[in-house]
Amino acid sequence: MCGIVGYIGPQQAVSFLLEGLRRLEYRGYDSSGVVAIDEGEFAITKTAGRIDDLAAKLLSHPARGHVGLGHTRWATHGPATDANAHPHVGGDGVVALVHNGVIENFREIKKRLAEIGYPCKTATDTEVIAQLVASELDARVGAAEDAADRYAPLVEAVQAALVQLRGTYGLAMVFRDWPDVIVAARLGSPLVIGIGDGEHFIASDGSPLVGHTNRIVYLADHELAVVTRHSIRVVHRDEGDVRHIEQQLDMDSTQVDLNDFPHYMLKEIFEQPETVLAALRGRLNRDEGTAVLGGLNLTPQQLRTIDRIVFTACGTSYHASLVGEYMIEAFAHIPVEVEYASELRYRNPPMSPSTLLFAVTQSGETIDTLAALREMKRKGHSTLAICNVVGSTIAREADGGVFLHAGPEIGVASTKAFTSQCVVMALLALYFGRIRHLSFEAGLRIIEELASLPRHVEQALETNNDARRIAAKYCSCDNFLYLGRQYNFPTALEGALKLKEISYIHAEGYPAAEMKHGPIALVDEHTPSVFIVPQGAVYHKVISNMEEIKARGGPVIAVVDKDDSHAVELADDVIRVPAVPEFLQPIVAVIPLQLLAYHAAVLRGCDVDKPRNLAKSVTVE
Ligand code: G6P
Repeated sequence: MCGIVGYIGPQQAVSFLLEGLRRLEYRGYDSSGVVAIDEGEFAITKTAGRIDDLAAKLLSHPARGHVGLGHTRWATHGPATDANAHPHVGGDGVVALVHNGVIENFREIKKRLAEIGYPCKTATDTEVIAQLVASELDARVGAAEDAADRYAPLVEAVQAALVQLRGTYGLAMVFRDWPDVIVAARLGSPLVIGIGDGEHFIASDGSPLVGHTNRIVYLADHELAVVTRHSIRVVHRDEGDVRHIEQQLDMDSTQVDLNDFPHYMLKEIFEQPETVLAALRGRLNRDEGTAVLGGLNLTPQQLRTIDRIVFTACGTSYHASLVGEYMIEAFAHIPVEVEYASELRYRNPPMSPSTLLFAVTQSGETIDTLAALREMKRKGHSTLAICNVVGSTIAREADGGVFLHAGPEIGVASTKAFTSQCVVMALLALYFGRIRHLSFEAGLRIIEELASLPRHVEQALETNNDARRIAAKYCSCDNFLYLGRQYNFPTALEGALKLKEISYIHAEGYPAAEMKHGPIALVDEHTPSVFIVPQGAVYHKVISNMEEIKARGGPVIAVVDKDDSHAVELADDVIRVPAVPEFLQPIVAVIPLQLLAYHAAVLRGCDVDKPRNLAKSVTVE
């Protein structure tokens, strides 16, 4: 979702801004723009479309200057047009700003601003902030000359504007009359400041900073930063100066570059043997037959009292949570519920004091997941995070948790985060099982099975050619069904989500037997059904479901164990994956489904890493 970059220093700002915006493309956007301060005037260039369109436009409308901001916009209020793209300007050109988030009370403010001579011209909620800041600045005209601290009126004006806003924002602003400063502010939408040598950078996340600096400062909610070439001052919106803490950015260029892959999604699919290993590294304790999860920040005594676990998440993270539900119930016998974060945040479900909440999120910034976490925290529950991005809001606000250590995930369609989340779920199941009734021997067996997993994931990648061939055969179909049972019901959901996200083919994931209660009506010779049917307790039951589809003329694609002999007889197309214990099947079986979706999307000419309408990090409700 919207991305922000900023630069102040000796270089031409626009070169960092363009490069940074390209690094943020993965977040999802439909227009973009930059502003630089050129001899006391704003040079603004913005356009609907891609960063390439912006770069082309900058050739004829250059934005020169050593202070500047850039933005990728994912439309919420008003369509993706040049005019609605950020930056937006307030007053007679006193401030230019870029915004990530949503201002909920923008209509009321807009009306009020029009009455006092600050009319908004666009449909965006962002322009309201620009006009509000301008009106507050204009109200302080003259104060700047008198003030001992020349930025004091600026800070006051921004603070006065921010307290009037209801909603979320990551904001960066530049000022005509203070051309040597950027002001950034945050409430709900992340912002990070990079510290260089005589220069500072601003970004929505760490990726634009790679190659420029690894020294960073995260802004917290309600903080604003006054950033010059040589200084950073952080002020709480209501409480005055705050001491900021410098941290290390843990990212390198091999993680954010494509290397030899045509798309980030494919690169990340192929990283999975390594990322699965990274999620396991240092977490298997053979001496005690358990998992080591030091970040939970709860003692085994405290964890023993837990009588219920709630996972809350969105999208792919929700599917990984469903896998966790099966694992934890099987190994630890603790009741588990999985709730969409967007639902949980507005519900008031009865929860005993011994309920433990996990927010499951790759980015750590999904607004609904964050809101659900905060609501549960407010009610006094222990809250933990299963998260990939260190330093993200959810990682910082949770009482503890487990990191995925999967490295940056840039492809909008989540792949490696899913398998790492499932690994963490298995570790949690093992850990909770071992502090309850699971024997040492059983724990050790699970450990050995987990230790073999990276090798099996590597073998599962050998399905790439089959996935490409099958994608070519069926990629002109309009509908797909994905069917599996037990552990592989979430696998089916995730396979269907991958396909629809990037190829725009309608796909539904269902528990295989449940398809008789509706989806079977869709089945015809043009609607393939992808069955996830490795060996296990429900193997023969799923084969019966395959028969039901075959009887209605539907093509069947089957993901089966390497030495399968029954399912393959029924299937039109077969993908063989290594045989693993049932609880690990989603991790291995999802890989050909990721590849199938990838190849179908490529064959249909879709922009795999920047799918239509989607955003990587959903920071609005
Ligand atoms: C967006 C992304 C999905 C992701 C979901 C949850 O919809 O496009 O890939 O699964 O958000 O994101 P999170 O970062 O919280 O896991």
